[in-house]
Amino acid sequence: MTEKKLIIDYLEYDSPKEMTPQDQELIKAANEARQGSYSPYSKFQVGAALLLENGVIVKGANQENAAYPSGLCAERTAMFAASANYPDVPFDTLAVSASDHGVQCELPASPCGSCRQVMAEYQKKYGRPLKIILVGEKRIRKFWKVDDVLPFIFDSLKV
Ligand code: THU
Repeated sequence: MTEKKLIIDYLEYDSPKEMTPQDQELIKAANEARQGSYSPYSKFQVGAALLLENGVIVKGANQENAAYPSGLCAERTAMFAASANYPDVPFDTLAVSASDHGVQCELPASPCGSCRQVMAEYQKKYGRPLKIILVGEKRIRKFWKVDDVLPFIFDSLKV
């Protein structure tokens, strides 16, 4: 038996002002994307902004449904829209922002497991790290690759 430890390397910021202009623009887009949220049931608005390698930013927001499982998270809405509209353009960075009853969450939004698995799929497809920025009003976290938010990624080719 060998005891092992996993170390995750990420950056934490107090404000977007500490970040690059490109990251600041993406955070602004994620905050704006919350306006597209359709969340009459949870009143939890999530916005996602996905920067593609060609510089285009694709926005997404959570979409809810009276039949609960039929809804979709903001992150997957953005990634599926990007993949459908720009099928061969690699994903660069995904920023996510959330508000509860219209008030921005102080701590960073944290994607659900299904969204992390979908991130992993596109990271594998494009063969390059997908960076992730999780935005809170008082704290922002930046991860360098999907592996950092989804350790031991499931990969059907490697099972
Ligand atoms: N939601 C997202 O859009 N992204 C996440 O990462 C977590 C949750 C949505 C789903 C649902 O519309 C609402 O937030 C409450 O769970």
